[in-house]
Amino acid sequence: MALSYDQLLQLLRDNRSTRRFRHDIPVGADALRRFADATRYCASGRNLQPLKYILVDDPKLVDSIFPTLQWAGYLTDWEGSAPDERPTAYAVQLIDTSLADSILCDDGLQLEAFTLAARAEGISSCIIKSFNIPRLSEILSIRAHLKPHYVVALGVAAEEIRLEEIKDGDFKYWRSEDGVHHVPKRPLDEIIVGDK
Ligand SMILES: Cc1cc2nc3c(=O)[nH]c(=O)nc-3n(C[C@H](O)[C@H](O)[C@H](O)COP(=O)(O)O)c2cc1C
Repeated sequence: MALSYDQLLQLLRDNRSTRRFRHDIPVGADALRRFADATRYCASGRNLQPLKYILVDDPKLVDSIFPTLQWAGYLTDWEGSAPDERPTAYAVQLIDTSLADSILCDDGLQLEAFTLAARAEGISSCIIKSFNIPRLSEILSIRAHLKPHYVVALGVAAEEIRLEEIKDGDFKYWRSEDGVHHVPKRPLDEIIVGDK
């Protein structure tokens, strides 16, 4: 059955970067494999498909990955999530350099597929680019030809996130006193610069 436009839009709107999670609800290894499976159907430049994944839900490894990640640069007052608000699983996206050096836009397409698949099963996520590559490689014993490219943090959300329209050009997300995370997005009329 095909997804309607409204259903797809709802899933996209719902797929917000989440940074506080329910620590008591695991994602599960089978679910992580399903999310990775979704990435196999993405378009791929030259169809090389050079991206690989390490899936992590072992609690000890999950705990050791957290300090290698940098969260929410704009939330300067936030000390970071408390131990009981941290992600319960991770996926590390890697470039298999034996297959390709350049990945064009395969990375973003696959990250979107991965996180949308997760969201379709009620799992929230955050794509993370700022992380300590040598430390993460050591923790996960990543082989030399596999280059860590992104980390996806996953879990069941423990925060409310609201989409907002950008005001006065300010694109920075913020957290209000009631703990709600607000994410400004540009309006359609701003991003369509030609309608001929
Ligand atoms: C390429 C990319 C890199 C990102 N890196 C980080 C990161 O290192 N740490 C983080 O907390 N969030 C990171 N994010 C999440 C963005 O902050 C988030 O997408 C943005 O604030 C908009 O929120 P939204 O995803 O809910 O629309 C990244 C997102 C993308 C697409």
